[in-house]
Amino acid sequence: MTYLVAIVILSGIGGALAVLLLLAGRYLCNYGPCSVQVNDREPFVVDGGGKLLEALYARRIFIPSACGGQGTCGFCRVQVLSGGGPVLPTERLFLSEEEVARGVRLACQVKVREALSVQVKPDYLDVREYRARVVSARLVTPDTREVRLRLLEPQALAFRPGQYVQVMVPGRREPTYRAYSIASPPSAAPDLELLVRRIPDGVGSGYLHRVDPGDEVVFTGPYGDFVLQPDAALVCVGGGCGMAPMRSILRHVAETRPGQPCWLFFGARTAEQAMYRQDFEALSRQMPGLRVHYALSEPETSAAWDGETGFIHESVARHLQDGDATQVFLCGPPAMITAAMAVLTAKGIPRERIFYDEF
Ligand SMILES: Cc1cc2nc3c(=O)[nH]c(=O)nc-3n(C[C@H](O)[C@H](O)[C@H](O)COP(=O)(O)OP(=O)(O)OC[C@H]3O[C@@H](n4cnc5c(N)ncnc54)[C@H](O)[C@@H]3O)c2cc1C
Ligand code: FES
Repeated sequence: MTYLVAIVILSGIGGALAVLLLLAGRYLCNYGPCSVQVNDREPFVVDGGGKLLEALYARRIFIPSACGGQGTCGFCRVQVLSGGGPVLPTERLFLSEEEVARGVRLACQVKVREALSVQVKPDYLDVREYRARVVSARLVTPDTREVRLRLLEPQALAFRPGQYVQVMVPGRREPTYRAYSIASPPSAAPDLELLVRRIPDGVGSGYLHRVDPGDEVVFTGPYGDFVLQPDAALVCVGGGCGMAPMRSILRHVAETRPGQPCWLFFGARTAEQAMYRQDFEALSRQMPGLRVHYALSEPETSAAWDGETGFIHESVARHLQDGDATQVFLCGPPAMITAAMAVLTAKGIPRERIFYDEF
């Protein structure tokens, strides 16, 4: 009986404290209206206390936020010229001393508690929100789905091969976005394809594995800094969903410069993960300059495999001659990027000619 009374009293005290904290948050931490100025635009006013990232999105300024504001991607960099408070330890994980000195901050970690003046990359002011309809969806490996979208509004999206969009996951308490590379070339407009690997319990990948033809999808974009050099002898090296941007880039090169020398190196664990192999082999018959190398790192379970085995950076080391490549696009898991980067730089390819995206 005494225990029961003690539990009831403690629960009551806990509940009362929670209510007090809520009220304190509501009334004592009320920062009132705060003005936010972005670049040279007219300042706008928001209720203080929220995240800068959310204030920007509410004004339809869609800066990159690949982790959806969780503070784990470091993509939402902005320069805070005034206001913003002290830099948090979570931000220091992503920012160099030089960036901190220049006022660079992560917009998802900055709270709007006073007037703020912020600079964002001018390109971000051109990023738009799009509505699209799912026209088809199919599995290309047991865990990777190709989703084809058709733009509804606006009906055109100008992007460079290698760029990505941020898909909004509906039904969440706060706006939630995840980054997905565009897998189709610009010529596929008004359609675009995404390639999505299902992550167990993944919010964004789970959503894109559930959508059906006819469903509407909202995304923002385009984002990403890769610029395909004209006349580059291009080498693409990737694994997993790193295939998505490489498919966009190589299909674009096939359409615009079919005689261009280029290489595709794709690493997978098993044959069933070696997505689009037949497609690229067919493409290489139309594109005499395209050389295609797929390699399996765990070939034991793929009895009928007639291709290369081992890690993909080993294939790069075997097939690429010093001086072959003038531009490299790397995309895949971090370990693959590190290993491929070492091989490529050992072959004398300058670091600034190698672009990489890790995911
Ligand atoms: C620029 C860019 C482009 C991208 N393009 C693509 C693309 O074309 N196709 C694609 O499928 N993905 C792509 N991604 C990754 C994608 O944005 C998501 O991070 C991924 O889909 C996981 O999100 P989620 O919401 O499903 O998982 P979350 O709900 O965020 O995470 C669920 C759980 O899984 C863990 N987790 C998250 N990611 C991984 C992972 N990769 N492997 C194992 N565990 C993980 C988390 O730590 C968490 O515990 C890209 C990322 C970036 C930054
Ligand atoms: S760190 Fe990912 S959105 Fe801010």
